[in-house]
Amino acid sequence: MSDTSTTGQYNVDVKGHAKAKEVFVQGLRNQHAVEMQAIATIEKQLGRYDNYADLHARMQQDLTNSRTQAARLEKLLSHHGTSASGTKETVTSVVGTVAGMVHITADDQVIKDVLAATGYKHYEIASYNALLAMAKAIGDTDCPPVLQESVAEEQAMAEWLQTHTPEIAAAYLHRYVNDA
Ligand SMILES: [Fe+2]
Repeated sequence: MSDTSTTGQYNVDVKGHAKAKEVFVQGLRNQHAVEMQAIATIEKQLGRYDNYADLHARMQQDLTNSRTQAARLEKLLSHHGTSASGTKETVTSVVGTVAGMVHITADDQVIKDVLAATGYKHYEIASYNALLAMAKAIGDTDCPPVLQESVAEEQAMAEWLQTHTPEIAAAYLHRYVNDA
C-alpha cells in the first residue's frame, strides 16, 4: 500500500487522462445497468408483499429511488458526452456479479427477497463509492455531489432492511404457521 497516504487517500495522478475517464464513464454505464436491474427486480417482486405493508411501502420507495438514480446516471453520462445505450451486455455481465443473491421462488420467498435486497444495496453502496473515488481521481467535480445523493439513498435503504429483517422474518413465520 505504498501509494496510500496516512489519510487513506490514494495518491494517483490520472487527472485529465482520457483512459482513466473512459474507465469512469464505463463505471457510470455499469451502474446504470445495476439500477435498471434493480427496477426490473422490484417491479417483479412488489406483488409478493401485499401482506407486509411496511416492506411494500419501503420497496415502492426504493423503486422510485432507483428510477431517480438511473435518471441521474443518464444525466451524468450525457454530461460526459455519451449515453447509457449499449448497456445490454453490461446488464448481463454486471448483474452476474450479484445474480448469486437472486433466489428462485420458494415458500420463504419474502425472507429471501429481503436478504437478496440487502446484498444488492451493499453492492450498490460499494459501487457508488468506487465511482466517487474515480471521479475525484480524474478531477471530475460535477459527478460527486450527484453520486453522493444516490449513496445516501442506498445507505438509508440498507439500514431500513437491516433494522426490519428480524420483524419480517418473524411475521413470515407467524403467517406460515397460521396459514398452513
Ligand atoms: Fe440504486
